Amino acid sequence: KTVILIGAPVDSGKRRPGCLMGPDAYRTAGLPGALRDLGYKVEDMGNLTPASHQPDTNDGKLFAPNETIAWTHRLTRTAEMAMQRGLPIFMGGDHSLSLGTVAGVANHAASVGRPLFVLWLDAHSDFHTAETTDSGNLHGTPLGYVTGREGFGGFPKVQNRVPHANICIMGLRSVDPAERAALEETDIRYHDMREIDENGVGRLVSAFLKDVEAANGLLHVSLDVDFLDPMAAPAVVTTVPGGATIREGHLIMEMVSDSGLMTSLDLVELNPFLDERGRTAQVMVDLAASGLGRRVFDRPTRAAN
Ligand code: ARG
Ligand code: MN
Ligand code: MN
Ligand code: MN
Repeated sequence: KTVILIGAPVDSGKRRPGCLMGPDAYRTAGLPGALRDLGYKVEDMGNLTPASHQPDTNDGKLFAPNETIAWTHRLTRTAEMAMQRGLPIFMGGDHSLSLGTVAGVANHAASVGRPLFVLWLDAHSDFHTAETTDSGNLHGTPLGYVTGREGFGGFPKVQNRVPHANICIMGLRSVDPAERAALEETDIRYHDMREIDENGVGRLVSAFLKDVEAANGLLHVSLDVDFLDPMAAPAVVTTVPGGATIREGHLIMEMVSDSGLMTSLDLVELNPFLDERGRTAQVMVDLAASGLGRRVFDRPTRAAN
């Protein structure tokens, strides 16, 4: 089995810079070696650049739309291509990279006649459009884009939208009013931190994975650093207190791995400039490794009672 590492140093999705250093931080934290140790053949495509584009003037409401559109073109094509050869891990880069990665993965899914499911691990719902966003930061829009919402003038037209019912968002604790109103109109599954506290991540994730399996779906996982609590993962601009623990993160990724369903992965929003001795990069690498089969023991542990 081949894992294709794709550096996507996208930094145009919000104003505060730093995510461009993400891909190299993941390499420094040992992602390629961790995957080789798990038995994968690892191909590193290096760091991509956006398609050519007009410079952004940043006199409008949106921050750096031209650059983000150019990345969306590049990453859509790259994702389509990589899906034919192995399991791509998109090393971000901010979450605006998912406009392209998910769109490309969705095109691949359509070409092989299977439905695409998306597990979105994030404090935020990222369900804005380029028109509803208050901040003008396009990293708040990828789920709006890939589900085919209106309001993305100038962006490539989404060829294969992801059906609402195939999306599960976990970890929510910061949702803007316009996103909330739009989300509530859909049958997207979304679980806020309260629901996680009341049910445990295991139960919520296994219900979703069952549906992916029953539909013979492909599964894209998009892991935003801010899904985790800032105490565990400080290297992100959009920290929100009260997030998931490292243990909850591992359990989700281990269950994803057990299911054998994951076909692509985004690691997004890591800002190494804000990290403490690389610990956030390391946590993200360890979570990715759990998602690809790393275990403490190779047998199921015995349940209590
Ligand atoms: N909803 C807020 C906004 O639109 C925050 C988005 C944060 N997104 C992220 N990928 N970290 O600006
Ligand atoms: Mn540029
Ligand atoms: Mn996000
Ligand atoms: Mn987020």
